[in-house]
Amino acid sequence: EKDGFEHFMLKEIYEQPNAFRKTILNRIDSAGKNIVFEGLQLSSEQIHRLDKIFIIACGTAYHAGLVGKHVIEELTRIPVEVDVASEFRYRRPIVTDKTLVIVVSQSGETADTLAALRESQRLGAKVLAITNVPGSSIARDADEVIATVAGPEIAVASTKAYTSQLIAFYLFGIYLAQVKETIPEEERKVMIEALCKLPEQTEVVLQHANDIRMYAEAIKGHSSLFFIGRGIDYAVALEGSLKLKEISYIHSEAYAAGELKHGTLALIEEGTPVIALATQTELYEKMASNIKEVKARGAHVLGVTLEENIELHRNVDDVCLIPSAMALFTPVLSVIPLQLISYYTSLALGNDVDKPRNLAKSVTVE
Ligand code: M6R
Repeated sequence: EKDGFEHFMLKEIYEQPNAFRKTILNRIDSAGKNIVFEGLQLSSEQIHRLDKIFIIACGTAYHAGLVGKHVIEELTRIPVEVDVASEFRYRRPIVTDKTLVIVVSQSGETADTLAALRESQRLGAKVLAITNVPGSSIARDADEVIATVAGPEIAVASTKAYTSQLIAFYLFGIYLAQVKETIPEEERKVMIEALCKLPEQTEVVLQHANDIRMYAEAIKGHSSLFFIGRGIDYAVALEGSLKLKEISYIHSEAYAAGELKHGTLALIEEGTPVIALATQTELYEKMASNIKEVKARGAHVLGVTLEENIELHRNVDDVCLIPSAMALFTPVLSVIPLQLISYYTSLALGNDVDKPRNLAKSVTVE
């Protein structure tokens, strides 16, 4: 059942290109111009009335939501708030009948996310679930469902479910923009084309898995490391850091790169590994100066950047290149090396990769 892979996690990492293909399938019209969601009941009128979107989830699904916020706000200009389910449900969230609540859950059984869904409905909002399990409690209770078609995810550390959630956000974000006419038709077509290239581009990233294996060997003896990024890269940094902690048990933290000098820089010592995500062309220069800041304090920097960003190569110790992609789409590609780093580090340390200590695949307790 592991198809020759040593662990489910590695198998699931390699299943990503097909998971994307399946999640995209039947959701683009034959002209390649429009997104179609069969079964979605949300009317154009309801979409036009929305004044706010909430995205609620836990763990990795929450990190997908952070990317979702960038996507939806950029494409539709509807304000989006992202919240952890266990926080959302115990405050008095401002939710009305003009709010769309999107809950994200691989399993569809996470207790806090389910409770947040019910609380949102009680407050009058429509709830859309992005889930990988169509028969789950969350899918059953939600008003609308967008299924990710990643197939069963067995490893506790989520990989293909996360990236498939990103694909779902891209599809839904473009769909909202199409209904609200917030981006020109031509631009939408270009985006859809770029989206369809992601499975193949992911295959390219996966071909470099061996270089990452060497990097994992180098960091396995460290007690702490940092992930830094700006904008959408910061959202990916958070996911990379969670993945590493979860299965390698090495402490790490993710920081918005601009925040470093407000405290974190004090923790950088000679040799501290820093993984710097720099995939956003508009933010390259700012990232380059943050990289210089940590390097000046002795950090060893791995840069994750687009292949054309030659300038950054000179400023880092190691580089991991990802194929050129639209700014909103880079997380799908840049997270792959981070998944592989955590996998190979966990493996090198002799941990139980698929079943890390203290954790369960599905958290049905509150
Ligand atoms: O099934 P869900 O997506 O609702 O699960 C949410 C989290 O428990 C989950 O993403 C967790 O953070 C993963 N183990 C992270 O890899």
